[in-house]
Amino acid sequence: MQILVTGGAGYIGSHTLIELYKAGHTAVVVDNLSNSNPESLRRVADIIGIPEIPFYRVDIRDREGLEKVFAKHKLDACIHFAGLKAVGESVEKPWEYYENNIGGTLVLVDVMRKHGCKNIIFSSSATVYGDPAEIPITESCPKGQCTNPYGWTKSMLEQMLMDIQKADPEWNVVLLRYFNPVGAHQSGRIGENPNGIPNNLMPYITQVAVGKRKELGVFGNDYPTPDGTGVRDFIHVCDLAAAHVAALKCFTNALTHSLNNTFIYNIGTGKGYSVLDMVKAFVRVNGVEVPYSIKPRRAGDIATCYCDPSKAEAEIGWKARYGIEDMVRDSWNWQRQNPEGY
Ligand code: NAD
Ligand code: WQD
Repeated sequence: MQILVTGGAGYIGSHTLIELYKAGHTAVVVDNLSNSNPESLRRVADIIGIPEIPFYRVDIRDREGLEKVFAKHKLDACIHFAGLKAVGESVEKPWEYYENNIGGTLVLVDVMRKHGCKNIIFSSSATVYGDPAEIPITESCPKGQCTNPYGWTKSMLEQMLMDIQKADPEWNVVLLRYFNPVGAHQSGRIGENPNGIPNNLMPYITQVAVGKRKELGVFGNDYPTPDGTGVRDFIHVCDLAAAHVAALKCFTNALTHSLNNTFIYNIGTGKGYSVLDMVKAFVRVNGVEVPYSIKPRRAGDIATCYCDPSKAEAEIGWKARYGIEDMVRDSWNWQRQNPEGY
């Protein structure tokens, strides 16, 4: 298939490009570079062994820009990563988040349908479960109250895409609910490259290890978990990337399913590790120091979040292959070789 990859210069998008080409697909990337660097695409092309990845610096809110891309390329499906993703920033700038994530997706979907391209894989998030009603979380767990506008954009976009599919059964909609992506391509040439102070645990750990930050603050050690720190379902970004390739099956097999062609999958390992498990594994596997101190809980955090990923295995044959040691090794391999990012 030829796939439109929105947000393809970003962390998860760049890793997914490699998996797409490995599986024999081709891609066209659209990204406004608001949170990425085109160097990622040059490195991806190098890793794949092609001269370049077709790339357009276009904002998904720019209808004419998208029209031109669709006029130029025959696109079979879209993997839609483009969006703003910083939880704390979304609390400060809710309008910007709703406008970019929801406004952008509505323009994208409209242009797609005008060009007869009605297959979309959407980057959703475990955050749609809110404080989950059950652990491990299955896809039938009810969606919950999100604690920030970012999370609501994911929850609302899921609903919008499902409604669009229901009204026009030619659409095939795949909602992938990612748990906590970490790690990097084994080459260490591409990886997560956050602007400013990292919000997420793993980039904070790697920046402490490389000497850019003094110590990690561990947000709370009084949760009802084995060691008191938060428990998450960390998933290697290369496994996550492979899940998108597996999910393309939903498009080719769609007619064998019911008319209700919306597919929802949890994408995690099914294992929960605590914040301190991650720090200790990082130190042990990489032989580096990560000083930390216990800080108060962070607003909006939940104690425990991990999934039951068996539906994805049963229906699209996808399962995580990498474990915690691979995750901490590959995160460090990227940061060590690229202390200043791209
Ligand atoms: P990222 O910021 O590295 O990548 C997103 C890309 O989208 C960036 O390259 C950015 O420049 C681009 N972009 C943003 N707004 C755009 C617009 N209006 N038009 C065109 N391009 C635009 O983030 P990521 O970690 O790779 O996340 C990819 C997707 O997965 C996002 O939708 C994110 O919300 C979702 N997600 C991420 C996580 C995570 O922890 N990383 C977890 C769950 C879901
Ligand atoms: C993990 C654990 C923190 C930083 C977020 C989004 C979610 C999804 C993934 C996009 C928690 C603790 C963290 C630090 C710490 N993103 N922590 N010190 O909050 O599970 O999920 O990213 O969709 O929507 O909410 O991930 O990496 O921020 O935190 O102690 O400096 O690490 O308290 O227990 P989270 P995270």
